[in-house]
Amino acid sequence: MRLLVVFFLTLVACVAFALNDAPQPQRVKRIYDSYCYVCHGTGWQGAPMSGNPSDWQPRVEKGWDVVLKNTQAGINGMPAKGTCEECSDADFRAVIEMMMSEQ
Ligand code: HEC
Repeated sequence: MRLLVVFFLTLVACVAFALNDAPQPQRVKRIYDSYCYVCHGTGWQGAPMSGNPSDWQPRVEKGWDVVLKNTQAGINGMPAKGTCEECSDADFRAVIEMMMSEQ
């Protein structure tokens, strides 16, 4: 019985954490529109294009930790944090996943 309670509490904690961590779709879209679209919607300076999974595949294959580190620090034409000071890694990951998918 005690084990069941522990299991249940862990489950609730996980769900709460997951909900809390993943940004809402409206937030993801707002971040993309305000910060990332200007380059990733146009391919500016060779930026991988949103809606074009093959542009993103080789980048994500390096691993998410590398991709998120480059997003934070900037890389070549990509400015640090893509100019989004308010963004967390969870925000970046959600926005990148959105850009990676065909829209
Ligand atoms: C000023 C233009 C510009 C803006 C704004 C911008 N990017 Fe970029 N981004 C680039 C360019 C150019 C590259 C390609 C850099 C390279 O690899 O040479 C890039 C590459 C990336 C990469 C690939 C990094 C890697 O490890 O290969 C990610 C992820 C990324 N951008 C995310 C974002 C996100 C998220 C935003 C919005 C918060 C954003 N960018 C805003 C220009 C921009």
